[in-house]
Amino acid sequence: MKIQLASSYGFCFGVKRAIEIAEEHKGSVTYGPLIHNIDEINRLKEGFNIGLAEKLEDIEKDGTVVIRTHGIPKNELKALKEKDHKVIDATCPYVTTPQNIVQNMSEDGYSIVIFGDKDHPEIKGVVSYAEDLEDAFIVLKPEELEALPLKAKVAVVSQTTKKPEDFSSIVTALMSTRKEIRVFNTICNATFENQDAAADLAKKADIMVVIGGKHSSNTKQLHSISKRDCVDSYLIENEKELEATWFEGKELCGISAGASTPDWIVQKVISKIEDMKKVTA
Ligand code: F3S
Repeated sequence: MKIQLASSYGFCFGVKRAIEIAEEHKGSVTYGPLIHNIDEINRLKEGFNIGLAEKLEDIEKDGTVVIRTHGIPKNELKALKEKDHKVIDATCPYVTTPQNIVQNMSEDGYSIVIFGDKDHPEIKGVVSYAEDLEDAFIVLKPEELEALPLKAKVAVVSQTTKKPEDFSSIVTALMSTRKEIRVFNTICNATFENQDAAADLAKKADIMVVIGGKHSSNTKQLHSISKRDCVDSYLIENEKELEATWFEGKELCGISAGASTPDWIVQKVISKIEDMKKVTA
């Protein structure tokens, strides 16, 4: 069996940047997990004494706080700054963009529609930038738009890791009922690149291993894209979850990894598969 890495996989620009920022601030805490990968968070803890605070109250006065890649709600950022914490913002610039759009468009009197998962930290942050929270709506499906009390003019943004075709279906549904729609394509290119590469590889592989956090939205999407063309697609967080039986009778194993997955985990997975099958990579 051969092993082939997708032509684009793993860490995106925003995650690399957040990790570098955290490493430059040894002894700081991150407010919420910096990225969606527990192994990398543990590495930062062990190597750089980077702590993790889940609640504002858990952060020591005068401490240095690193804001995670997905950003945080506006009122929490304000509270952190007011508490005399040193705030280092590692929010990905591609996440700051929809935050600013929501703020500006709601100030201009537009209803806000956000295509995304309401429980995702990025979306909790983005929606918080609306001037009027009663006029900002988070939807996942076009049908959800019907019941919303939207104004005639609507601005729409997407969670950075969503599929373009799903975002289009929201925009299309809005077009049939609203006079003025401002569409901001806030889907991140890094997501496309990893997705396209995984799709290409899945067409020829007879097993795909997608590595990443089980709660990571972009990793789950890579997995579902891989599954379209390669039924035997598995999502794992690290090499410990591999099972030798998956590889029996297979000729080409494709590997992809989510945007929060460090390369050292990818390499460990490859070594373990090689050990299991004595393959040629
Ligand atoms: Fe940023 Fe895109 Fe990565 S939004 S965190 S560069 S997937």
